[in-house]
Amino acid sequence: MSEQLYIFDTTLRDGEQVPGCQLNTVEKIKIAKQLELLGVDVIEAGFPASSPGDFHSVVEISKAVTWPTVCALSRALENDIQLAADALKYAKRKRIHTGIGTSDLHIKYKFNSTREAIIEQAVAAVKFARNLVDEVEFYAEDAGRTDNEYLAKVIEAAIAAGATIINIPDTTGYCLPEEFGAKIKYLRDHVRGIENTIISVHCHDDLGLATANTMAGVMNGARQVEVTINGIGERAGNASLEEIAMIVKCRNDIALQTNINTRNIFNTSRMVTELMNMPVQANKAIVGRNAFAHSSGIHQDGILKNKLTYEIIDPRDVGIDDNNLVLTARSGRAALGHHLQLLGVTLDEQQLTTAYDKFLKLADRKKDITDDDLLIIAGVQNKQNHTIKLEHLQVSSGKDLKAVAYLELSISGERFDATATGNGPVDAAVCALKRIIRRSMTIREFTIQSISSGSDDIAKVHILLECEGNTYYGFGASTDIVTASLEAYIDCINKFKR
Ligand code: KIV
Ligand code: ZN
Repeated sequence: MSEQLYIFDTTLRDGEQVPGCQLNTVEKIKIAKQLELLGVDVIEAGFPASSPGDFHSVVEISKAVTWPTVCALSRALENDIQLAADALKYAKRKRIHTGIGTSDLHIKYKFNSTREAIIEQAVAAVKFARNLVDEVEFYAEDAGRTDNEYLAKVIEAAIAAGATIINIPDTTGYCLPEEFGAKIKYLRDHVRGIENTIISVHCHDDLGLATANTMAGVMNGARQVEVTINGIGERAGNASLEEIAMIVKCRNDIALQTNINTRNIFNTSRMVTELMNMPVQANKAIVGRNAFAHSSGIHQDGILKNKLTYEIIDPRDVGIDDNNLVLTARSGRAALGHHLQLLGVTLDEQQLTTAYDKFLKLADRKKDITDDDLLIIAGVQNKQNHTIKLEHLQVSSGKDLKAVAYLELSISGERFDATATGNGPVDAAVCALKRIIRRSMTIREFTIQSISSGSDDIAKVHILLECEGNTYYGFGASTDIVTASLEAYIDCINKFKR
C-alpha cells in the first residue's frame, strides 16, 4: 500500500513573486481552478499582508475552489496573521503559513535579534494563528543553512505551540541532496512531537538541485512537497510540481502516491506559461517542447521498435497527445477536426471549413496554439446552460461622438431590448444591459487579452463582477471587443445566486 505524498502548490505565491509574472485576481482564479482540476492538496494563494490586491485574491480564491486547502502566507507578526485569517474567511479548508528566519545570518542581519528571541516570536505567532484556524504550518526560513541542533529547538517549540505542519525550506537552494535528506532525518530523530505533524519541504533551485533536494527530503520522511508549475519562483525558481508528480508516478519502488491527475499537467503548464508570460525552456523535464522529441536516428530507430527503449514516460500520461504538439500552419483540416474531437467538439463539414480558415489565419501569426484558442475558433463557449443570452447588439461610437448601444436579450426565452448612451461603447452596452437587469452590479476587474496581435484578432475578456456582496467571474470571446465584453458580463449574471 502506497503512502500519500501531499502536494502544496505555491505557484500563486512564490511563483507570482517573480518580476513580470504578476497576475490579476481573475487570472489567479483561473489558475487556482486549474490547480484544483489537477488535484493539488493545498493552494498557497498569496501573502495577504503584502498588498490589498493579494488580500483580495486570497479572498476570491477561497470562494472559488472547493476541495484544496487554501493557504495564506504571513510573517510571524500578529497583524500579518490576522490579515491571513481574514482573507481565508470563505475558504472551505483553510491554513495559515507563518514563520521566521532561523539561520544565524537571518537572525543577525535581517532581524538584529537573538536565537532565544526568535524562538519566542515563533511560538507567539503559532499560538496566535492557532486561535484563528485549526491548521497552522510553521516555516523556518533558511532552514537549509540553519544548524540542525538549533533548528530542532525552534521546531519543537513551534509544535508545542500548536503547529500541525512543519515546513523546512532550503530558501537559498544551497543544500546538497544528501545533506538536506540528513537534515530531515535529524529532525525526525530529535524533535519531540514531530511524529504527529506532517513534514514539508520547500526547495529552491539556485544550484539546480530543487527537485533532487525535495526528493531527498521525501525519502527521509517528508510527506508534503512545496512546488510550483514549471518550477517558477524566486530567482532560479522552486522545485517543479510536474517533476515530483512524475517521479512518484514512474518510480513504483518508492511506494508513494499523490492526488495529481497527471493528464492535466501539460494544460496547466501551458496556462501558467501564457498567463505569466514566462516561457518554459525547450528541454525542461516533463513539459518542455523537446521533453518527448526523439531526434537522433539511433533513438528514433529504437522507439519505432519499442517505445520503452528510450521513453520512461508515456506523453499521454502528462496530457500530451501527439496532435497537441504538431498543430501548426501546415496542419490539415482533418488534423484540426481530430484535435477538436479530442477536446470533445464535433463540427459538421461547413463548421469545420469555417473553423479551419480561422485556424490557418491564427497559425500564421501565433506559434503556440492552445486548446483555449481552438475552442474559441470553433465557436464553443460554455453557454449552454445560460438562461440570459445576448441576441443582438448594435453600437455606434467614434471620436467626438457620444457612444450609443442598442441590445436585445432573451431571458428564459422571453425577449427584452434597451438603448443607452455611455462614455464609450462598452459603457453604453453595459448601461443598456443594466436597464434590463436591474440589480446593483459593479465591475471589480476587467481584462482584455488578444490571441495574437492582428487587428482582426479575437478578443478574450475576463470580468469580475460584484453583485449584492458576491463576486462572480465571467468570460467572453469575440472578434468584436464590445460583444466579448458584454458576453463576459452576461456570463457573470448567469451565475448570480437567485
Ligand atoms: O523560500 C522560502 O523560505 C519561502 C518561505 C516563505 C516558506 O518561500
Ligand atoms: Zn520560497
